[in-house]
Amino acid sequence: MSKLWGGRFTKETNKIVEKETASIGFDYKLAEQDIEGSLAHVYMLESQGILTKHEAAQIEQGLFTVQKKLRDGQLSFSYEHEDIHMNIEKHLIDEIGAVGGKLHTGRSRNDQVATDMHLYLLNKTEQIMTKLADVQQAIYDLSGEHTDTILPGYTHLQRAQPISFAHHMLAYFWMFERDYGRLNDSLKRISWSPLGAGALAGTTFPIDREDTARRLGFETVYPNSMDAVSDRDFIVEFMSAASLIMTHISRLSEEFVIWMSEEFSFIELDDSFCTGSSIMPQKKNPDVPELLRARTGRVNGNLVGLLTVLKGLPLAYNKDMQEDKEGMFDTVHTVETALDMLAPMIASMTVNRETMQRAVHTDYSNATDIADYLVNKGLPFREAHEVIGKIVLYGLNENKYLLDLTLEEFQAFHTSFEDDIFAVLEPRSVMNARTSEGGTSETAVKEQLKQAGRTLEKKTE
Ligand code: ARG
Repeated sequence: MSKLWGGRFTKETNKIVEKETASIGFDYKLAEQDIEGSLAHVYMLESQGILTKHEAAQIEQGLFTVQKKLRDGQLSFSYEHEDIHMNIEKHLIDEIGAVGGKLHTGRSRNDQVATDMHLYLLNKTEQIMTKLADVQQAIYDLSGEHTDTILPGYTHLQRAQPISFAHHMLAYFWMFERDYGRLNDSLKRISWSPLGAGALAGTTFPIDREDTARRLGFETVYPNSMDAVSDRDFIVEFMSAASLIMTHISRLSEEFVIWMSEEFSFIELDDSFCTGSSIMPQKKNPDVPELLRARTGRVNGNLVGLLTVLKGLPLAYNKDMQEDKEGMFDTVHTVETALDMLAPMIASMTVNRETMQRAVHTDYSNATDIADYLVNKGLPFREAHEVIGKIVLYGLNENKYLLDLTLEEFQAFHTSFEDDIFAVLEPRSVMNARTSEGGTSETAVKEQLKQAGRTLEKKTE
């Protein structure tokens, strides 16, 4: 029996059971964190007088050797040792002999695995925040070139009012800013240290939990050992923030797919972000935004999966909780790669200003402004709306856009129309008339851009 817990067993583990209950197939990704947590634990054991200086030094050296082998790609893992914690411990004992067995004093795999996950997500959350900021920067840079680029704004995917392209893109800047804020808020809860909670009830050894927490960069410790080993809220929180990030990426991706269609031709994604068809040689497919749109599904699925695992679990640790990992790793990988592709895809895309500009001349998206014009002449908005409705209907029947109508035609609907109506109806005046804070006029968008710039600067301070 070479298993670390083999003492009370008389039979070998069934082979499928051994393989299926093992988590080493995926939790090897926690190897760095596991060693880091063990180092903090052994330093603390020594300073509390639980291990002698000599024992601690041997364990420390042993852990460094294991760490070096890991980084050199020379550490092998086996199912027989079940998970990353026991694989590392086994390697340590192989390196330094029986004294390695003292590392686990006052510790359980239950607080150990929780510690590893906290360390892992703390690091990943910070990295993802940086990647979000890169995407925001790409949006900001592109928007800076397009405050005066005009395109139709849509509601119900029907032409609504002309807007600036920068305004449209900056909407996503603020979505990603909220995502950034959500991750930032979650850091204070990821920063609770579970280490020292033991299996569930604490330990009889005179440990110092604040000490290990500090060494590992955590802000504080869980006040309750049972909560410490059974809490996975911090992963759920990360996964739900990730779902919203992917939702935003998916919405933006959908816009790119639509805009790149022949029918719109508003943008063209760079060749390096598209693929071709094996049968239709003319095609250039927006595969990247399509995949990003689709991958929201797996991230949402991972979130629901973990919530379902946790629902109804009694305290404290249950083996069910081992199922938290694959979904978490997958979500981390999916979000990281999505953001990694999104920033350069935005930076390299071509914006077809002229096509967008032409589009706003072939619709009725300036209709609201005739209504506002009549309101300024004293008409109640409702009445004005009714008048314009009739004008639009007339235009549709006559095959004329509003700017094609003559003053006489306008005056046939209301006597208040004067020659100045034509300037009002120019799409650019329509856009620039929306000067309210957060609106689409060039002046308002430039203000917004400044605010976005300050937001980015704060992140690098
Ligand atoms: N591999 C386990 C997990 O990922 C580690 C904790 C095991 N604890 C236990 N009591 N079996 O959850």
